[in-house]
Amino acid sequence: MRWPRGLDGLCYGGDYNPEQWPEQVWTTDLALMRQARVNLVTVGVFAWSRLEPQPGRYTVDWLDRVLDLLHQGGIKVVLATPTASPPPWFSLAHPDALPVTADGVRLHHGSRDTYCAAAPAYRDAARRIATMLARRYRDHPALAMWHVHNEYGTTCHCGHVAEAFRRWLRDRYGELGRLNEAWTGSFWSQCYSDWAQVTTPRATQYLANPTQVLDFRRFWSDELLAAYVEQRDILRRLTPDVPVTTNYVFGDWVPVDHARWAREVDLVAIDHYPSETDGRAEQQTALAADLARSWSRPAPAPAPAPAPAAAAHGGSGVPARPWLLMESAPGQIHQHADGVSYAKEPGRMLRHSLAHVARGSRGAMFFQWRASRGGAELYHSALVPHAGADSRAFRETVTLGEILARLGDIDAGAVTARAAIGWDAASGWALQHPGLPSRHISYADEVAAAHRALWHCGIVTDFACPAAVPPGAELDLSGYRMLVLPALYLMSDDLAASLGRWVHDGGHLVVSYLSGVADPSARVRLGGYPGALRDLLGVRSEEFLPLGPAGTVALTGGRTGRRWREAVELLGAEAVYDYVDGVLAGRPAVTRRPVGAGAAWYVSTRLDEPGYQELLAVVAAEAGVAPVLPTAPAGVEAVRRVAGESSWLFLFNHGSAQVTVRASGHDLLTGMTASGRVRLAPGGFVVLRQR
Ligand code: GAL
Repeated sequence: MRWPRGLDGLCYGGDYNPEQWPEQVWTTDLALMRQARVNLVTVGVFAWSRLEPQPGRYTVDWLDRVLDLLHQGGIKVVLATPTASPPPWFSLAHPDALPVTADGVRLHHGSRDTYCAAAPAYRDAARRIATMLARRYRDHPALAMWHVHNEYGTTCHCGHVAEAFRRWLRDRYGELGRLNEAWTGSFWSQCYSDWAQVTTPRATQYLANPTQVLDFRRFWSDELLAAYVEQRDILRRLTPDVPVTTNYVFGDWVPVDHARWAREVDLVAIDHYPSETDGRAEQQTALAADLARSWSRPAPAPAPAPAPAAAAHGGSGVPARPWLLMESAPGQIHQHADGVSYAKEPGRMLRHSLAHVARGSRGAMFFQWRASRGGAELYHSALVPHAGADSRAFRETVTLGEILARLGDIDAGAVTARAAIGWDAASGWALQHPGLPSRHISYADEVAAAHRALWHCGIVTDFACPAAVPPGAELDLSGYRMLVLPALYLMSDDLAASLGRWVHDGGHLVVSYLSGVADPSARVRLGGYPGALRDLLGVRSEEFLPLGPAGTVALTGGRTGRRWREAVELLGAEAVYDYVDGVLAGRPAVTRRPVGAGAAWYVSTRLDEPGYQELLAVVAAEAGVAPVLPTAPAGVEAVRRVAGESSWLFLFNHGSAQVTVRASGHDLLTGMTASGRVRLAPGGFVVLRQR
């Protein structure tokens, strides 16, 4: 991971789209950026039609002037390749490069992201424009980093994609017989006798083949990665000193395995737009930041290394590498899922930005600098709103710049977690298949529930990502004492074996339903659930008995389960909670098995929130994983970054009442010294420098 060239402290800024404005506005922009202490802007993300209005005719003088102006103002630039939005001339010249939906409809220009990432004409054009930009700006002093494309995430089902899919499948399976076997082709007469018969999972009569769908998503993530890598390699060749990244987008529709991609970017950069309406934006912020930090950890080396002491090794022992919140919304998102653009109340933008910094982001960047007056996202919020600089929003923009500037050398501090949650994009994709026993299980929701339980316990977590492990290497859990695996559905024998070794050596593992049930080809492991983990957990389930969306089941200890139930039999584990009602009354619901120096827990239903928290708090205590600030009152989030003898303690009051927290240190925001007590207003936060 490399840091943007020429930038030392925290980054502050966002997407800057000067091509939408007359040049007089640029001068005002610069003055306002300086007033707000903006030091980094992303330029050119959607500028292709302005940069190349006709095939091969480049008009870059305006971009020269923008970069010069920014440089004169001391502002660095993340220069984007504009390949997420080819100009209209491109789609007319190359209709075969327009994307095709699963039901065969070819889409047309008139929005953004309307291209097929596997079409040779698109890839050629993308390489050409990236080369042009790199040649022209390689020596520009404002250039700090490259931002390839924008939020890779579109799919296509055209002939180019089908061909590339077949090539990928040939590499994976070698011969068609192995594909037929992996895809269970003998079910519903789906055995292929020629590679040419294999297509992408297009619209079909009834349920699609689950492994075909899963392999398509794996393939498409790799294909998009290849498109990114092509551009990255051009940029690296022409500007070896300039780091290259792309911005990750969140969502279960995203066909990208970000953990796998992390090895190919110089800096993990995320865009994060949590829902403003479900009351979970603060925890979602923490989750996104924890994922980004975990994705940015170096992958373990392929050759198994001898295990040194936990503090110097493993997940959390590895020094944190920089990652960056590349986009977030200063206020309203252009439209929420329910059709309303909800506003972020005053102060929340500051709190969310600092929450990302607390968990390792080296700054806070936004979409976008100045609110557009037209175009599809004209009511999306911006650091400079439609009302202009004389506005509450811009005053907050200035305040955030002042706050970030006061945090000084904080980016030296690393976040250390001793607890981790498993993260596996492919398991999430596999669980989306409608053939599963319940359509009400969402992987993202299962992961979020585990994270939320630990977040409420005040425990900072990393994510352990099997997909980030290069071939031949092992998932490195040595820095962790506790690991939660929510619905890690697909499990290889190797992963199951390494989990077993880790638990035996003292790890505390909590496994939820739908983990280890299937092999990497999404075929059920036979002999009882949860297949790959049965022996380690000391349980065997014969049957799944999912509950309806509103269904509940009573458990001992006054707890309630939802969504899922299983007929669990103890084979070495002991019951912690039992089912109390229904057909499973008296059978174990939550179990624990001591294993070597550690323990393996199985949770066969979705515990109610207090129950999940209570359980994970018990496991954490057993594992010796402490909250960041055990005395923090409810509703206060505490996160610590540490560098040698120094540390920075972030405290956020997410509640609606004033609270007093027991803490001391130099308050970086007010310059005062806190000795023993810190008062936090509702929505208030503080950053204490401690020694
Ligand atoms: C992001 C995207 C931006 C903008 C923003 C607000 O996902 O990268 O270009 O569209 O959302 O909707």
